[in-house]
Amino acid sequence: MKVHDKANPSRYLADENRYDTMKYRRCGKSGILLPLISLGLWHNFGFIDSAEKAGKISRKAFDLGITHFDLANNYGPPFGSAEETFGMILKKDLGVYRNELFISTKAGYDMWDGPYGNFGSRKYLITSLDDSLKRMGLEYVDLFYHHRPDADTPLEETMLALDHIVKSGKALYVGISNYDAERTADATRILAELRTPFIVHQARYSMLDRWVEKSLLDILEKEGKGMIAFSPLAQGMLTDKYLDGIPANSRAGRGMTYLEAKQVMQNLERVRALNNMALERKQKLSQMALSWILKDKRVSSVLVGVSSEEQLIENINCIDRINFSDEELKRIEQILK
Ligand SMILES: NC(=O)c1ccc[n+]([C@@H]2O[C@H](COP(=O)([O-])OP(=O)(O)OC[C@H]3O[C@@H](n4cnc5c(N)ncnc54)[C@H](OP(=O)(O)O)[C@@H]3O)[C@@H](O)[C@H]2O)c1
Repeated sequence: MKVHDKANPSRYLADENRYDTMKYRRCGKSGILLPLISLGLWHNFGFIDSAEKAGKISRKAFDLGITHFDLANNYGPPFGSAEETFGMILKKDLGVYRNELFISTKAGYDMWDGPYGNFGSRKYLITSLDDSLKRMGLEYVDLFYHHRPDADTPLEETMLALDHIVKSGKALYVGISNYDAERTADATRILAELRTPFIVHQARYSMLDRWVEKSLLDILEKEGKGMIAFSPLAQGMLTDKYLDGIPANSRAGRGMTYLEAKQVMQNLERVRALNNMALERKQKLSQMALSWILKDKRVSSVLVGVSSEEQLIENINCIDRINFSDEELKRIEQILK
């Protein structure tokens, strides 16, 4: 239920019932519980986007029990602007609930000019997090990730930088992202020796990209680490939005290099078959695609990006139906073959 501050009606007060419907899952064997659905700020939070809409989406997410907000130094565009937008949202609305929020950021991709604004050096990771904290107006983040593996920097250097970041109080936990299974095992060993609170791997996982099933999920389970799935809707392909063509205001329609119209068309037949199946299950395709990931308990949370509150609500509602019959699972395998 929404309560309003009568003396200051424009002040945001979080919904009193925000923890009633969201479900939470333990992140590996750590002490942290994550909402089944987390909010990613890669798109729709940059200076090119509406700050007002970004605020609405964030407040709605928190009102519905989403405690985990995922950022990176380079989210925008321009780089850094998603963190600045989120900093403003924290300052105005969500910041008073800081202890209820689990905020992550990352460094690893191209961020600033010159030799120290990219990849996995100690210099880059530590200075990048300092900048991220300033942009968000935070003293610490809950989780800091190395965003991608770096073959040219010794893994020990990158892991020692993560360890230093925790010891200096700027992050409570650390994670890695986009590491393959072998490098994940090596990173786990080093961080275990250092006793660094490494809790999670963030990896791309959807019905259309299943590389984590080969061995990564097994390794993470064995080591007691969580897995957060990103791009679970394959950037919108696993929704009903492209069934009848490419809307101009969609990710593919806006001509973003991350999702090309060609890719959408290549997957259309499978997506149509999945959509029919979702309707039989009395779900939207987006909901079935998220439920399908969450059926695996090794996945701690799925990170969705949304361009509206309506999309967010639709996606969250998947949590009521994350069970699949054997027959349904077989049919999905046939469609995806
Ligand atoms: N670690 C990494 O390297 C990495 C990489 C990528 C992403 N991530 C993280 O993962 C988060 C999610 O990634 P993503 O944005 O690619 O995820 P996604 O959930 O697969 O795609 C999000 C897009 O799908 C569309 N969408 C979402 N819900 C919809 C619905 N119910 N109906 C119709 N369309 C819907 C929207 O596109 P429209 O704009 O077309 O409406 C939305 O922007 C990111 O924000 C980021 O935090 C991490």
